[in-house]
Amino acid sequence: SQKSESDLRSPICCILGHVDTGKTKLLDCIRGTNVQEGEAGGITQQIGATYFPMENIRERTKQLKADAKLKVPGLLVIDTPGHESFTNLRSRGSGLCDIAILVVDIMHGLEPQTKESINLLKNRNTEFIVALNKVDRLYGWKTCRNAPILTAMKEQSKDVQNEFKMRVSKIITEFMEQGLNTELYYKNKEMGETSSIVPTSAISGEGIPDLLLLLVQWAQRTMVEKLTFHKELQCTVLEVKVIEGLGTTIDVVLVNGVLHEGDQIVVCGMQGPIVTNIRALLTPHPMKELRVKGSYQHHKELKAAQGIKITAQGLEQAVAGTALYVVGPDDDVEDVKETAMQD
Ligand code: GTP
Ligand code: MG
Ligand code: NA
Repeated sequence: SQKSESDLRSPICCILGHVDTGKTKLLDCIRGTNVQEGEAGGITQQIGATYFPMENIRERTKQLKADAKLKVPGLLVIDTPGHESFTNLRSRGSGLCDIAILVVDIMHGLEPQTKESINLLKNRNTEFIVALNKVDRLYGWKTCRNAPILTAMKEQSKDVQNEFKMRVSKIITEFMEQGLNTELYYKNKEMGETSSIVPTSAISGEGIPDLLLLLVQWAQRTMVEKLTFHKELQCTVLEVKVIEGLGTTIDVVLVNGVLHEGDQIVVCGMQGPIVTNIRALLTPHPMKELRVKGSYQHHKELKAAQGIKITAQGLEQAVAGTALYVVGPDDDVEDVKETAMQD
């Protein structure tokens, strides 16, 4: 109905996969940023969050001519590290999302943290799309910047097309060995039973329109109930960070509900519950990464889904990975404190 459509919140999509498969680079390609090159050792070590407004997604997918069907306000994408030592962050990221992108390097196939990620997704019954990345590494690949994948494929030589087919079928077999059916998305007639594979390049952008469109269409077609906005607050602390000029801040993902400047909040602290008031509600600009220092937008209130930086007094002992609660007019602070410490 008209109402439920206007009440849809942005889907939250988590990017998972083995180290260096191109998770951050894919986001850079969509954002037009250079976050990956600024990372120490080229390795992601934190969870990130980026908000993509629907107008940007519409623009990026217009070659596929499907814009009338996009109804969610935008997409919140959570970046995670692929290095083996960050299992906890992958678990935290995957725990927040409605849908996931599992990134696989077409030259490497399934790797140890790909398999770990598959298990996280299976355990939570999370639907995912496979981004089969680095197609530009196929020998002889002809660049078709930002083209839909089938348009790009038509431009390739028989040799490139054959190598592509061979690698895809090998990777489909590797997925089968993990108990998963997968198929190239444009051949997939049973989305849901069979997960879709979207070939991409994060360097030259082939397949990016397909990935974005599939993600949004799939989310809003299958998750209307899950994506219907509700007021009950659901909010998780991603990171606790000292920012010059702001003091100790927390980066949170607001999954549902609304946060206001001045709200009394309770978060789990190392020495007990922390009760404080939101001093500032900040977001990076749209299409910018929350974990990268930059200029922030100030808000009086924010509606889910969003990645938010909160400044408030007394956050030094806050524990990442726990839930944030708002003390409402009918709530007893002592009850909320007790709930917060159960995380
Ligand atoms: P972690 O977050 O550390 O797990 O890595 P990641 O999955 O985010 O990969 P990242 O974006 O750091 O990319 C790793 C390396 O692969 C970088 O040198 C990228 O430039 C390169 N890379 C990523 N995507 C592509 C691609 O599509 N094609 C090619 N040729 N190189 C890519
Ligand atoms: Mg990364
Ligand atoms: Na990397």
